[in-house]
Amino acid sequence: MSLWGGAFNEPSDADLRALQDSIGFDKRMYAVDIEGSVAYAAALSLAGVITDEEAAQIINGLEAVKAEFDEGRFQLQVGDEDIHTAVERRLTELVGAVGGKLHTGRSRNDQVATDLRLWTIDALHQIDSLVGALQEALIAASEPHVETLMPGYTHLQPAQPITAAHWLMSFFWMFARDRARLSDTQSRTEVLPLGSGALAGSPFAINREFLAGQLGFEFVSENSLDAVSDRDYVAEALFAFSLIGVHLSRLAEDLILYSNPAFGYITLNDRYSTGSSLMPQKRNPDPMELARGKAGRLIGNLTGLLTTLKGLPTSYNKDLQEDKEPLFDAVDTLTLILPVITAVLRTLKLNPDRMRAALDESMLATDLADYLVSKGIPFREAHHISGRAVRLASEKGVTLTRLSVDDLHSLSDRFGHDVEAVFDFAASVARRRAQGGTAPDAVREQIARARDWLANEG
Ligand code: ARG
Repeated sequence: MSLWGGAFNEPSDADLRALQDSIGFDKRMYAVDIEGSVAYAAALSLAGVITDEEAAQIINGLEAVKAEFDEGRFQLQVGDEDIHTAVERRLTELVGAVGGKLHTGRSRNDQVATDLRLWTIDALHQIDSLVGALQEALIAASEPHVETLMPGYTHLQPAQPITAAHWLMSFFWMFARDRARLSDTQSRTEVLPLGSGALAGSPFAINREFLAGQLGFEFVSENSLDAVSDRDYVAEALFAFSLIGVHLSRLAEDLILYSNPAFGYITLNDRYSTGSSLMPQKRNPDPMELARGKAGRLIGNLTGLLTTLKGLPTSYNKDLQEDKEPLFDAVDTLTLILPVITAVLRTLKLNPDRMRAALDESMLATDLADYLVSKGIPFREAHHISGRAVRLASEKGVTLTRLSVDDLHSLSDRFGHDVEAVFDFAASVARRRAQGGTAPDAVREQIARARDWLANEG
């Protein structure tokens, strides 16, 4: 059975069918396809297009088809070109000719647009909860390390001391923005296309508000031409997924670097690192490398879809069938990677001694300049004097903190004995206590706000 063909004298060529059949991937939308059809049968009976009894027969039949899919009993047949065809073919086998009334006023164009929106809404929720679990793991990993000191970097060069919790928590906020983006995307996905027909709208008195209510959509589309071809929500979802991928990739890169023995700041759990078949000493950060690698794949899915959309003439075109595989692949990719990175964080061991040992006293040069500022010297000049101190220390072959007060005095008469207090990593960090800073007190507040965020917006 085909959903079309009356005007054709010959069946399709087998090679054409292989090209155009989408059942191989769109069958995973069976549940939402049937959900949409159940609501549509009810709307047809409300409109007086079919009787209540016919609607009940169709709905019972659809439920039987769903059970076959749920239980893995559904038998695909040649000619089931897509999920819509397969469901209707089987429905008609089960309930007879009345099954043929279901598609009245409907096209696969408004049907597939509805299915994919329903599928996307579920996927947005699924990914959102996986990202939420990752955020919880970040908080849990941070909490014991609010006072743990480590080098902070810019340009990957040692910059200023920070606390390890501050480093980990920086990722919490990236994922908070990602989750806000997912929910924002959802608000534009919750628009019902069903009732738009192939392109021009429905000639039957379909109550679209009713349909929207049945299917949980917030809005009803305003223009049938737009409704059957709007895939903006897929592009938005793929962008949100790509950015999650980019954030995972950046986190992964830090974990790769900091687990390198040259840094040694963290140790990956045996269960989440792998060995080398040749070099017994190796401990490879494969899950992080895969997170980094899969970000490229997620971005590829986004750019692929945008490229598909860019030249399309008005309303539905078969090119739009290319919307599903990148979306499914992105969801599958994140569904694989997010739980693993969450588990990596849950089992991550921080090595405070190694972090501490990597603190270089030149990283206090800014604090030295700030000290001079507190003595009334303009910052620009203070910065220069502090730079001279760094140079003097290196000429003398000592660290910055080993310069005597006399040495410092030779650079500025504002240096006094109280300068000793500057040369303390913990004190340096503790001074940065303005909101959002790395001071333990500020990070404790940050974590409390992160918890609030999870409770109210997560
Ligand atoms: N498999 C198609 C898709 O995914 C369903 C819609 C087909 N519509 C059509 N007029 N051929 O887009």
